[in-house]
Amino acid sequence: VTFPKSFPKDFLWGGATAANQVEGAWRIDGKGLSTAEVVKKADDRRQVSMSDVTAETLKVALADTTDVAYPKRRGIDFYHHYQEDIALFAEMGFKVYRFSIAWSRIFPNGEDAQPNAAGLAFYDRVLAELAKYNIQPLITLSHYEMPIALTQKYNGWAGRETITAFNRFTETVFQRYQGKVPYWLTFNEINTGTWGFHETGAIDKHLSEKEQLQIRYQSLHHQFVASARATQQLHEIDPQAKIGAMLARMQTYPGTPNPIDVRAAQLEDQKNLFFTDVQARGEYPEYMNRYFAENGITIKMADEDQALLAAYPVDFISFSYYMTNVTQHDQSADSMGNMVVGGRNPYLEESDWGWQIDPIGLRITLNAMWDRYRKPLFVVENGLGALDKLENGHVHDQYRIDYLRQHIEQMKEAIADGVHLMGYTMWGPIDLISFSTSEMSKRYGFIYVDQDDDGNGTLKRIKKDSFDWYRKVIATNGEDL
Ligand code: BG6
Repeated sequence: VTFPKSFPKDFLWGGATAANQVEGAWRIDGKGLSTAEVVKKADDRRQVSMSDVTAETLKVALADTTDVAYPKRRGIDFYHHYQEDIALFAEMGFKVYRFSIAWSRIFPNGEDAQPNAAGLAFYDRVLAELAKYNIQPLITLSHYEMPIALTQKYNGWAGRETITAFNRFTETVFQRYQGKVPYWLTFNEINTGTWGFHETGAIDKHLSEKEQLQIRYQSLHHQFVASARATQQLHEIDPQAKIGAMLARMQTYPGTPNPIDVRAAQLEDQKNLFFTDVQARGEYPEYMNRYFAENGITIKMADEDQALLAAYPVDFISFSYYMTNVTQHDQSADSMGNMVVGGRNPYLEESDWGWQIDPIGLRITLNAMWDRYRKPLFVVENGLGALDKLENGHVHDQYRIDYLRQHIEQMKEAIADGVHLMGYTMWGPIDLISFSTSEMSKRYGFIYVDQDDDGNGTLKRIKKDSFDWYRKVIATNGEDL
């Protein structure tokens, strides 16, 4: 009996970014305003997302025409540096580059009569640049942003109308880039919708937790439908191309071997896997029907929805992997949760931002996902956000090398276990604006970008120690770590 001891020859090594965290150029070439561009940076490292935006703060953001308080308006100016940045990715030997298309660059107001030609042309240029180096694109269609106009008109994904608007966008880009993009993802970390990341949030503040959850699960249903339609469109327009789901996978460990804790952890895990269950298997799982019923959540579906979900499951499953959770049963909790999540795991170390580092958890996750779905997997995010120090023009980021090495070692083990893994795009190969805190100083990159939290700096790109290390990893197909 033999088993694969190593990465397959065609393994897709690379890196991943998102439009609103790198592009900048927020008011250039006809781009409309996106939800990410009204999220203000907090002063105290707090996490701030769309769900924190209120009607009042939205008004302030709309009136502000500068990028001072809104770092996702400036990104790292990839819009004007993409050639230089892609050349650096190529120097590391990238086989694939994951990036997202800003919907608001293509349809500035979400429902415009015609797509914005200058927006489409920008991604033509990016794709041409990647083709020059034989780097395959992996494009996320929706990465934590949408045209603000749709949130004002329909409360974002809460409105069923948004499905139609999104699928016009997807059809437009599938047609435009047909034959040039082998891999697509629909919604980045689709599960985080239950945390309110995909809505205006403006209406949420006054509602009870139950009412908020009702809206969020309904919004998610609309995303599931939009995702299935996009899958149908892609398969018709570009039959060679593959499309995947994207989950923020958070494996949950029980806090103790007490069966009551193990059961609490299992339910928590199911609530995380629910999203890929729908997108991979094409139907809502039974355990969620019970959860919805017991928590007074009713998902409104159109007649055709269930047939559509069943007919167009995703081709592969991708996920981000940063940490694992610990769950314990909590007697005092109300029926909504009945468990405590996120306790510290005493066996793990944590990052500067308190994210618990768990390389073995990646092997566990890969095995569990493969067992569950038997569809090819793709790790499309993993990495270490850290406070890097630039000293005499160098960044000695051995801690980042260690982090990535340990995770890559565990991927290799998972491949030997029999897991079908398509590739690995580490998060943020070049420093970018943090999603959760909008900080620049939470750096993930192999490439340092000279910019501080307030947007000061030359934007110069500088290779860190990890740059050469990753080049070696790719050159040896993961053998020399
Ligand atoms: C994922 C997101 O949640 O994690 C990315 O898909 C994000 O957009 C990444 O940047 C890391 O999170 P953060 O908050 O450190 O930027």
